[in-house]
Amino acid sequence: MSERIKLLDRYVLDGPSHGYTETSHCGPSYQEKVLERFVKHLKQRFPKSPLRVLDLASGLGEAADFFDNRQHHISSVRLDISEIALGLQNGARVRALATELPFKDESFHGIHFKDALVHIDDKTKLFKETWRVLKPGGYMVVASKVIPMGGFAVHEEEKNENLKNRWDVFIDSEENYLSLSKFFEGFGSLITIDPPYYETHQKSTVSSARKGGLWFLNSKSFSWRPAEDQPDWHTNGPADRFVVFLSKPTVK
Ligand SMILES: C[S@@+](CC[C@H](N)C(=O)[O-])C[C@H]1O[C@@H](n2cnc3c(N)ncnc32)[C@H](O)[C@@H]1O
Repeated sequence: MSERIKLLDRYVLDGPSHGYTETSHCGPSYQEKVLERFVKHLKQRFPKSPLRVLDLASGLGEAADFFDNRQHHISSVRLDISEIALGLQNGARVRALATELPFKDESFHGIHFKDALVHIDDKTKLFKETWRVLKPGGYMVVASKVIPMGGFAVHEEEKNENLKNRWDVFIDSEENYLSLSKFFEGFGSLITIDPPYYETHQKSTVSSARKGGLWFLNSKSFSWRPAEDQPDWHTNGPADRFVVFLSKPTVK
């Protein structure tokens, strides 16, 4: 396992800011407004093929469960860097970086990527990889929150007490994060370290996707934000969210 994967694998299921178990991450409104539409477009585009979808940075694989369980005739693959999250799932699973996909060219009809774009420094590299593994005409849906400024958090813990302190350390590159993270790891079990967060906006995402070779299909029908009664990641944090729907052109 690469050193980078180990250093970037920072989601602790019940950790200070990533309570995986506190909310659902693929509730009814997300399924209706994003996943069902995504599947409908895939079926229209590839009416004759059994569909293969990559749930990229799957977390607990709730979207992959949707693809697998609803008689959609879809086989999904869950990819994440989190050993713990992948260990809790059934189904096809791969531990890898989203920017270095261990799949052959043109392996998937669709890619679903929710709430992980903020952790990717080189977004153009990410989209070049997703372009490579998508079949011509394939679709990728990206759901993300807006992050106006990068940074990551270091939580200092005191034995038998709750969190004592939190520092937000600004980072603007993966290299920067890895070196700071190695430094803080020297403090051992006294601290926990959050994943990196990089600046993320819809406009720059569309531009990176374009550089990666993907077309942005602007559609108001792909719009979603967590409903109050269906909380999701960061419902109480940054409110702004976006969903972009992308396609790999059939010709270069
Ligand atoms: C906020 S969670 C989202 C999980 C899931 N997509 C959802 O919506 O519930 C972010 C996930 O991205 C994964 N992740 C972070 N950086 C990654 C990377 N470079 N490559 C692959 N997965 C990554 C984390 O391990 C975590 O499971």
